[in-house]
Amino acid sequence: MKGQSRIFSGIRPSGDLHIGNYLGAIKQWIKLQDSHEIIAGIVDLHAITTPHEPEKLRRATLETAMVYLAAGLDPNKVTLMVQSHVPAHTELAWILGTMTPLGELERMTQFKEKGREAAARQGIMAGLLNYPVLMAADILLYQTAVVPVGEDQEQHVELARSIAERFNNKYGETFTVPAVQLQKESARIMSLTDPEKKMSKSDESAKSAIMLADEPGAIREKIKSAVTDSGKEIRYDPDAKPAVSNLLVIFSELSGRPIKELEESYNGKAYAEFKSDLAEAVIEGLKPLQAKLTELRENEQAVLTILRDGSEKAAAIANKTLASVREKIGFL
Ligand code: AMP
Ligand code: TRP
Repeated sequence: MKGQSRIFSGIRPSGDLHIGNYLGAIKQWIKLQDSHEIIAGIVDLHAITTPHEPEKLRRATLETAMVYLAAGLDPNKVTLMVQSHVPAHTELAWILGTMTPLGELERMTQFKEKGREAAARQGIMAGLLNYPVLMAADILLYQTAVVPVGEDQEQHVELARSIAERFNNKYGETFTVPAVQLQKESARIMSLTDPEKKMSKSDESAKSAIMLADEPGAIREKIKSAVTDSGKEIRYDPDAKPAVSNLLVIFSELSGRPIKELEESYNGKAYAEFKSDLAEAVIEGLKPLQAKLTELRENEQAVLTILRDGSEKAAAIANKTLASVREKIGFL
């Protein structure tokens, strides 16, 4: 039954979204929207933990909301919200931060990776370290039981679990302890130019990611220049053939054809033919989303209204949890 299980998940408005965001995260939410009460956040407070430009952030926040809608999230079923519009997130993050050991935050893989990049540029800011505490606040405020995300976020959800358990042990049952939910094969879509790295918004190589709004020409170009593995066979074997396996996952997810069937139909065929069909499948697979996106861009006001209503709805739920936390902590 809907309502028994509430879900919060989100994406940072830190640039254009790519097919990894769609296949790893948004597609899971769409599948769950009939059975669960989903709160889909546009997590702008997280986006400012890496360098950003104010006008671009504002634009990306709106664009991310449009992608959610264009991909098929139904605003009558799903609550779309902007994280910074619900102050309970920041307040709970502060409280949880006072109970989170520094060592646990320093151990986070994402902090280590992003910290290295930041150290080389402007130095590491405290917000980057506290990022997972804010994410725990996002999840715990809504009593989220399962968190549908890509694999890179698994460690952060684990941390949210231990923060919830620690709070519950100290102050009594307050938070639902969340579990991560991954989409098997597409939990980690890899870069087209380096199959050892995940596809990412911030990759310096423009050909590494297929953006959801990419034109057919750009998609053909990127797939044509995608790296492949040695050998000729087109088969799914992530260890021996990471690049081709990644392309097979993308093909399968965007065409709806099972990987097995694709392996059979490309048995003995060349990479060039496979890639050319893959490009057409991606173009076709993204067409409905892109058409809807164009429509939504013409109607920004409607999107702003959806976000305002959604953020209000989210705040009502979040404030309830926060009130109980404030009480338990001993605030006057
Ligand atoms: P981000 O772009 O880091 O805000 O990520 C938003 C969501 O997309 C999270 O659930 C991520 O786990 C997911 N995601 C990001 N990159 C990938 C990828 N390459 N493959 C699968 N999921 C991804
Ligand atoms: N940190 C997540 C990412 O980069 C985004 C995020 C923020 C999130 N808060 C969340 C995801 C809460 C799930 C639940 O992908």
